[in-house]
Amino acid sequence: NKVVLAYSGGLDTSVIVRWLQETYQCEVVTFTADIGQGEEVEPARAKAEALGVKEIYIDDLREEFVRDFVYPMFRANAIYEGEYLLGTSIARPLIAKRLIEIANETGADAISHGATGKGNDQVRFELGAYSLKPGIKVIAPWREWDLTSRETLMAYCEKHNIPVDFSNKKKKSPYSMDANLLHISYEGGNLEDPYWEPEEDMWRWSVSPEAAPDQPTYIELGYRNGDPVTLNGEELSPATMLATLNKIAGANGIGRLDLVENRYVGMKSRGCYETPGGTVMMRAHRAIESITLDREAAHLKDELMPRYAKLVYNGYWFSPERRMLQAAIDESQAFVNGTVRLKLYKGNVVVVGRKSDNSLFDEAIATFEDDAGAYNQKDAEGFIKLNALRLRIAANKGRSQL
Ligand code: ARG
Ligand code: SIN
Repeated sequence: NKVVLAYSGGLDTSVIVRWLQETYQCEVVTFTADIGQGEEVEPARAKAEALGVKEIYIDDLREEFVRDFVYPMFRANAIYEGEYLLGTSIARPLIAKRLIEIANETGADAISHGATGKGNDQVRFELGAYSLKPGIKVIAPWREWDLTSRETLMAYCEKHNIPVDFSNKKKKSPYSMDANLLHISYEGGNLEDPYWEPEEDMWRWSVSPEAAPDQPTYIELGYRNGDPVTLNGEELSPATMLATLNKIAGANGIGRLDLVENRYVGMKSRGCYETPGGTVMMRAHRAIESITLDREAAHLKDELMPRYAKLVYNGYWFSPERRMLQAAIDESQAFVNGTVRLKLYKGNVVVVGRKSDNSLFDEAIATFEDDAGAYNQKDAEGFIKLNALRLRIAANKGRSQL
């Protein structure tokens, strides 16, 4: 029997390799993905080899991640609980999908991951895996083993000759972090006191708004079918687009978030996030939609959005309801083309212009000057009277709130 492990090359997942070999007497296949976390993935190969792994997968999934996961989610303007741009949530289904593909290629009957038993990530990995391969076995070491403290983990490393410098963080951090092209997150440590303000040097992707340049940066984002495709006139691939926006926005102090969120498993948790490029994309997409979407289509999208965001957060990417919503959202984006001009300044994203060949904005109708007769001000009288009818009836029946 064989198990495919989502392997970061770090200490924890290296312990999992050894633990799986010992506990289940199985072949471990490792899978390490570059999804833009900003750490080298190639070193994972030598580490896996040192642990006796024979089948090692190292994939660059950056384009697929942004094209097939981040962009579709941004078409929905998805935000969880009013604030969270779902940076970790959206990466998990891709990892789940790749784990299952590799299981099929290598003939493995199980997958494994390093998420704890207290969080959302376990749910997302496993719901994804089960929906793609219903008979797959899942091994979640953190829910099984007793290596629950740093000390017991270190003792295990010593006993099994796992070099402790397997830890792959460039700079030691007291936080549990997760990064990909969309965001970097921080949880745990002192953040577990929701009243405690994180120190400035926790943040890695952005300067503070106070330290941002005194001059604004202007950018122009070009949209096609709801996706950003050009930056300042230059066509960029999805991954390059997001990486570039992260740099520009991060340098202007944009994209920091500190919140307490409700995990699917029931607890509240405090997290800090940096999503510089995503914060710009969210504002820009709404701006281009503002001139290209019909009012009711736009409002319906806004009603569906919290449902969509919740199902991404909860791990239901590969579900019939997500596909239904996605189809409706994608359909709405047919005319979402054009250009948005933005000013980035000390933590703010300010929309300063929007234009589109598919614009529904009609100056001739909107203007207060006289018009060609498309809008007759006299029509408004009947419109208001009929809409007032039920209000007047109620008031006549003694329900006036005066
Ligand atoms: N709380 C966020 C979420 O559920 C971030 C999770 C971070 N994951 C991690 N393994 N550190 O999407
Ligand atoms: C974890 O528990 O592995 C990270 C946090 C989360 O999944 O919500």
